[in-house]
Amino acid sequence: MDLKIYKDKQEVAEQFSNYLVDQLKDKETFHVALSGGSTPKIVFDVLADNFAGKVDWSKVHFYWGDERCVPPSDDESNYKMTVEHLFSKIDVPEENIHRILGEKDPANEAMRYANLLEINLDRIEGVPQFDLVILGMGDDGHTASIFPHEIDLWDAKDHCVVATHPDSGQKRVSINGKVINTAKEVVFLVTGASKAEKVEAIVDKTEGSDAYPASLVNPDSGNLVWFLDEEAAAKLNQN
Ligand code: 6PG
Repeated sequence: MDLKIYKDKQEVAEQFSNYLVDQLKDKETFHVALSGGSTPKIVFDVLADNFAGKVDWSKVHFYWGDERCVPPSDDESNYKMTVEHLFSKIDVPEENIHRILGEKDPANEAMRYANLLEINLDRIEGVPQFDLVILGMGDDGHTASIFPHEIDLWDAKDHCVVATHPDSGQKRVSINGKVINTAKEVVFLVTGASKAEKVEAIVDKTEGSDAYPASLVNPDSGNLVWFLDEEAAAKLNQN
């Protein structure tokens, strides 16, 4: 596990953008699963503002680790957020954007998306393998849309599952833990003081931290990088 700690959200966004562009440099094709929520907004803005014309985006295929079961026009849609902050500012072919169809029946969409991943990606022992999975972490230690109250979804046999937000009851389609841990690399983008307690529990593997889905992220490749700001890293043991 590699911890990269930066001053604030802006610096996390800048440093991760440089890191991602560096990863893309020598690749013919690159399959990346995006995360949703608010943190990626600034990352996508920085990526677009600094690298719109400097990257051959036609070699990048964009997927999502999870999506809310809402229409693409809904403000809750991770796809809508990504269009506003990234796709509207870079030249990426439409056919490279592989949306989870939030407007469809969740169970059917989970099956369809799992099939799409199995067709589009190389498979390791039958499990679709992303080049990179980008994850956020909720204040409750959830990641993608695997929440603590449904942690059993992490080990679901299906590669895509239907999850339920614990507070709103909103349905979501999410990749499962096997797909996450099969990725060549996983990057967490976690910022803000509200994350500090769970970051410390998960990184320092404290008692009971295995109740948090984010603690189960442990890619077989060994390539796990946390991009943190100082607020989110504030409780980490400094020794
Ligand atoms: C989502 C995300 C979710 C997110 C965390 C952190 O669809 O909401 O995939 O897992 O990454 O909730 O969100 P913030 O970055 O907004 O704190």
